[in-house]
Amino acid sequence: MRIDILSLFPNIFDGFLTESIIKRAITNQKVEINVIDFRKYTTLNNNQVDDTAFGGGAGMVIMCDPIVRAINDIKTSDSHIILLDPKGTLYNEQKALKLKEYKHLIIICGHYEGIDERIKNYVDEVICIGDYVLTGGEIAAMAITDSVVRLIPGVITGESLESESFNNGLLDYPVYTKPRIYDGYEVPEVLLSGDHKKIAEYRQKEAERLTKENRPDLWEKYHD
Ligand code: ADE
Repeated sequence: MRIDILSLFPNIFDGFLTESIIKRAITNQKVEINVIDFRKYTTLNNNQVDDTAFGGGAGMVIMCDPIVRAINDIKTSDSHIILLDPKGTLYNEQKALKLKEYKHLIIICGHYEGIDERIKNYVDEVICIGDYVLTGGEIAAMAITDSVVRLIPGVITGESLESESFNNGLLDYPVYTKPRIYDGYEVPEVLLSGDHKKIAEYRQKEAERLTKENRPDLWEKYHD
């Protein structure tokens, strides 16, 4: 898979691409990730990419042209083009599983007051990662890239993927490690019992309890 991220602030991605699992996925050629500064595609003086909003209002709006030029330069017949915008449809694990199937993702990060609405004519979908407004799409692009790359076979172990939150409609069960007693807090007895059936039952119950308490929306769906 190849992921091309279009941003005006490519340095934001430095640590993201050079640490931990994403770094390893790149090194092992599970994914190729390019961050492209779309400012280099402007044809205007002084590298201009934005202007004031028609109709007035605060802030600057990014113009379509440098982004469309960048898209045209990199897109292939395999490309799926995503615009990041708080006005988009809400992202979740189901969407990550669908995005994993594409050979090439192009992810466009907005900044300032947003991008000229006509950019929507050049993208396949508009995604929002949560009901809050970020200063730009870069963190959203990292969230989406991270959640997709970890699903690529061989990036992390299949067992980790199977048992985790959202996969079976429930949040993940809680985990513990040494020491057995930390500051007076004990590891639940059943986890020390060696009885795998009992442990599995306990974990299922805990996953259900946590989902009921923290995510009544998921719990309702799980019950349907
Ligand atoms: N840009 C700013 N906020 C965003 C959000 N919540 N999701 C996607 N892109 C964004």
